[in-house]
Amino acid sequence: MSILPILRNASDRILEMDSITIRKPDDWHTHLRDGAMLEAVLPLTARAFRRAIVMPNLAPNPVVTTEDVIQYRERILKALPQNANFTPLMTYYLTDNSSAEEIAKGFTDGHATAVKMYPAGATTNSTHGVTNIQNVYKVFEAMQKVGMPILLHGESLKDLNGNVIDPYDREKVFLDTTLPKLRSDFPELKIVLEHATTKDAIQFVQDANSNFLGSTITIHHLVENKSVVEKSSAPQYHHCMPVIKSEENQKALREAVTSGSPHFFLGTDSAPHPTTSKEKDPPAAGIFSIPSALELYTQVFEEMGKLENLEAFTSLNGPRFYGLQPNDKMITLTKSPWTIASDVSVSNGDSIRPFGFDDDATKRLVINWKLS
Ligand code: NCD
Ligand code: ZN
Repeated sequence: MSILPILRNASDRILEMDSITIRKPDDWHTHLRDGAMLEAVLPLTARAFRRAIVMPNLAPNPVVTTEDVIQYRERILKALPQNANFTPLMTYYLTDNSSAEEIAKGFTDGHATAVKMYPAGATTNSTHGVTNIQNVYKVFEAMQKVGMPILLHGESLKDLNGNVIDPYDREKVFLDTTLPKLRSDFPELKIVLEHATTKDAIQFVQDANSNFLGSTITIHHLVENKSVVEKSSAPQYHHCMPVIKSEENQKALREAVTSGSPHFFLGTDSAPHPTTSKEKDPPAAGIFSIPSALELYTQVFEEMGKLENLEAFTSLNGPRFYGLQPNDKMITLTKSPWTIASDVSVSNGDSIRPFGFDDDATKRLVINWKLS
């Protein structure tokens, strides 16, 4: 990492940087969708990220079989702009009926990088998800054997009596019940706790201190907290799963990602929905952050006084966990404030509202860093 420090206020001994050069980052959790939406989202992803773990929750038909994986990957490559240097890392969507053999072979043959498990009903397009974790134990055995990671939507929807759990408590219940059992039943299964949102999740991952457990953290859970969302004039654009938690939890996430710990890595969970779906009641869950995610992560590291740890989080910890090489190419971010000026148009007539955009220009989120 090379950095250009300027001494802005020598008497305060505050070192500020106006430029930072790091290896090109990867996004270890992203939603690209399909068709016209894919075409709109992909260039914005490839702009900042060299690779991305592509989530398989397509609607109406998720990416379940190896044939689905191969075809979806081809559609992504076809939608890539010329000259883009981007590699989609494909995932299977786990169902109660997934084939252990097919999935393990898809990994060893190089078609897919990981498997995503959604508890049925937990989030957008999760109706085909797993209803009982025992149903997929054969798949986990096969994955553990070949070293294929399982990516967990780490929330429990219902308690043992079948009562629906409050959205603010779902991650905690998952950490108290499902995750410890999974880790003890499959001690060498590589697990990613996706989009961790609570101090309990941070504690769990830090206590485990294991090469078999990593966690992605989204940009929106770092930038916002529950009271910011409640004060917003358009809370539907802040609605996602897991929901945005309290300031205390936000603080724990900000400390974890900037700490230099190898267990946390960048995963935007950027989840585009047409504005028409976000304006419905209830709104679709998912925040579209990809247009400014990398810049905003940089901003968080700057605010925490930890720019020196940015590259580990964005570009080194993820590849290390997945057993891949970090990217060779370098990118530079410079201090140059901007705001998002419009929704993103989709060729089918839809539009997608990016995180930080507001119709009222004075209310737009100021993004301090810009990717050169
Ligand atoms: C995601 C989506 O829209 O696909 N939504 C979300 O709120 N994060 C699904 C997911 O990752 O949970
Ligand atoms: Zn997601």
